[in-house]
Amino acid sequence: MDRAAQIVSEEEMARQREYIAEIRDLPQKPRTFYVVTYGCQMNAHDSEKLTGMLTEMGIEPAEERDQADFVIFNTCCVRENAERKALGNVTWLKEIRKRNPSLIIAVCGCMIQEPGMAEKILQQYKFINLAFGTSNLHRFPELMYRTLNTDQNTVVVEDRDLIPEGLPIVRARREAAYLTIMYGCNNYCSYCIVPYVRGRERSRSPEHILHEAEGLLKSGVKEIMLLGQNVNSYGLDLEHPFSFASLLKQLDAMGIPRIRFMTSHPKDLSDELTETMAACRHVLPQFHLPVQSGSDRILALMNRRYSRAQYLDRVRKLREAVPGIGLSTDIIVGFPGETEEDFQDSMSLVNEVRYDSAFTFIYSPRVGTRAAAMENQIRPQVATERIQRLIALQEGLQQETLKRFVGMEEEVLIEGLSRRSSEEISGKGLHGVSITMQGKREEIGRIIRCRVTGVKNNTLTGVRE
Ligand code: 5AD
Ligand code: SF4
Repeated sequence: MDRAAQIVSEEEMARQREYIAEIRDLPQKPRTFYVVTYGCQMNAHDSEKLTGMLTEMGIEPAEERDQADFVIFNTCCVRENAERKALGNVTWLKEIRKRNPSLIIAVCGCMIQEPGMAEKILQQYKFINLAFGTSNLHRFPELMYRTLNTDQNTVVVEDRDLIPEGLPIVRARREAAYLTIMYGCNNYCSYCIVPYVRGRERSRSPEHILHEAEGLLKSGVKEIMLLGQNVNSYGLDLEHPFSFASLLKQLDAMGIPRIRFMTSHPKDLSDELTETMAACRHVLPQFHLPVQSGSDRILALMNRRYSRAQYLDRVRKLREAVPGIGLSTDIIVGFPGETEEDFQDSMSLVNEVRYDSAFTFIYSPRVGTRAAAMENQIRPQVATERIQRLIALQEGLQQETLKRFVGMEEEVLIEGLSRRSSEEISGKGLHGVSITMQGKREEIGRIIRCRVTGVKNNTLTGVRE
């Protein structure tokens, strides 16, 4: 078992609050800021923390990136194209600085935490004023203060797996909130860089989580999304171990209208959790369960530690416990050594499970991971052709799978206007599928009951009850 993770000390957090107060009075502080976010929900939530700290510094959000005096890129490195995009945009901003010489450019997040990246930034990206890794997020006020008081660039990357508590947060949405329950990952799937850049698995205490949830409930939040790289192993590292299922039960009893969570590792999906899903009124009937591959041989090479049969068994149990549950997944194609036969195993698994949605990725080698050093890397043309076949299969199946909702009543938490028309609103139903219906901007943030009328472009349409 892992050592219990350490919480950043109260003194340290107080020190950071002092820096925030100092910055507020600095004449040279930027007037406006803009946060650019790449990657997953974790990163989106970290950006809400950055926004919280910047707001407390007395800096205003800018409408457009080009107009801000301080731009911070919160990066992702899970696949190469995420990284390329971030670096491309940072470089482009260098041009903007010609118009606004006082522009400050900062880069943070997973990419900075990659081995060798700090040196690369110091040598090749000298125009970046400030760079820090995910483990230094809570020290942002201090680093910002340093940046504002020097001409040199500040690059700080540490390898310490701490838990920061009490950071200010400005949430992007009022009605739906992210709540981190754990940081890091211990799984070392052979393709994945996350354990290297986000550190060891460490769970927040149930007290801290419940306290945050209570605050959210009081503020009128309608939905909480619990976040962790592998929420199923939540609490195992705590001094007094506490299971994810127990945490769900306590949150459910608080009366938060809608509770969702991601991500789950199939190997840690316990029967207790499956039963808890069925028993909890407010835990939504949806499950994101990444399979990654349908081939036992590839699953073993990926170090996923479950077989195709075990995965299918977990799906079966979930469906028995929660009939009609919404299921989604992640699948990688073109993992080193993947043969046409292995790929066909992924195709047949998708055919068998019938997901409501699937995120499909072409394998991207990440330096330092085991898979990057494997032989038989797959040619890009082969991987591209495979992913196209997989997407076509999933889209065809999804069109059919989603028909099971037609005629059913749903409750939709409205997220925004639909992309197609300003007279339509859309949001997620209880099963995690997007539903579009007639409505107005004022209804954003409300929960609206509707009857599902059809399937359109792989999402649902509805009319209000
Ligand atoms: N290449 C392609 N996809 C990856 N993922 C993680 N690492 C890689 C990689 N190196 C995918 C997995 C994971 C999702 C968040 O990203 O499918 O579940
Ligand atoms: Fe990466 Fe695997 Fe951890 Fe998910 S469980 S973050 S894929 S190492």
